[in-house]
Amino acid sequence: MRVLSGIQPSGKLHLGNYFGSIKPNLEYVGKVEESIFFVADLHALTTMCDAAELRRAREDIVIDYLACGFDPEQSILFYQSDIPAHTELMWILSTVTPMGFLERAVSYKEKVSKGIVATAGLFTYPVLMAADILLYGANIVPVGRDQKQHLEMTRDIAVKFNRVYGDAFVIPEPFIREDAAVVPGIDGQKMSKSYGNTIPLFDEGAGRKAIMRIVTDSKDAKDAKDAKESVIFQIHKLFLSPAEANVLAEEYGGGLSYGEAKKRLLSSYQDFFAPMREWRADLEKKRGYVREVMESGRKKAHALAEKTMGRVREAVGL
Ligand code: TYM
Repeated sequence: MRVLSGIQPSGKLHLGNYFGSIKPNLEYVGKVEESIFFVADLHALTTMCDAAELRRAREDIVIDYLACGFDPEQSILFYQSDIPAHTELMWILSTVTPMGFLERAVSYKEKVSKGIVATAGLFTYPVLMAADILLYGANIVPVGRDQKQHLEMTRDIAVKFNRVYGDAFVIPEPFIREDAAVVPGIDGQKMSKSYGNTIPLFDEGAGRKAIMRIVTDSKDAKDAKDAKESVIFQIHKLFLSPAEANVLAEEYGGGLSYGEAKKRLLSSYQDFFAPMREWRADLEKKRGYVREVMESGRKKAHALAEKTMGRVREAVGL
């Protein structure tokens, strides 16, 4: 079985990325034949146009992945742009992708409504994502709920290709953790780089400030509170076992003040990420090692991708 996922290097990693994608991916490492994780730097070009910033963000996100616990001995890490087969396969897939599929993409409409320029790249973004997944024969793709439609499109494109040219692709399944499908941001909307409502993983100062700014209702300190309604609790429970979350929910019911609830969340957040932060600071000084990891990932990803491309080129007659 193969598990694969990717993240765009278009902002600092936040709790939504961690609990929605990184953590579920990490849980597969060492348990499946292949676990593959890549930096979606070609996708990032749809929203980033500062070369120096992208160059820095690409490597920073690899350091983040490694600090989160991706073991390069047990998983494959690489840059999407290092494997030209992604764009080659994207083109081939685009020739079997009906325009109607792409016209229904919610994420495209949302991005355009937020002011992102409606380029051809932004419109065909899901086809590149389908290529990312189908190239490696991924069976499982751990993502947050915002990527569900993209996964459905990938499946539809693969089915369409297989129908026209014969079985070339594995049909992938999304893996969406129910408890972290949509991690809320500090304003209660989905946590997202573009909403400015994130809690970052590695910038402790910014994380502390963000936690202290989480929205609350106007209940008095000693009033009973329904934990399920509280954004503080919805975020805090991601760090807790179900039993610990139940105990905390009871304390909310017993009149835990929001100030105290935030302090408790801050302490869980600090304890959880402290070892990763330390490891990250260490990795910052080992850029040579980070580059070696990516070069070795490139070689492994290239070998897998070329196997698929051999079949695809043969199937379509190239
Ligand atoms: P991106 O970079 O926006 O987000 C990376 C991952 O984090 C998840 N995520 C969340 N999950 C739960 N709650 C949230 N608030 C939250 N915010 C973000 C996303 O669902 C995603 O899993 N198109 C992708 C990148 C990509 C990709 C792929 C993913 C490119 N090719 C192939 C999987 C397979 C994206 O923009 O993710």
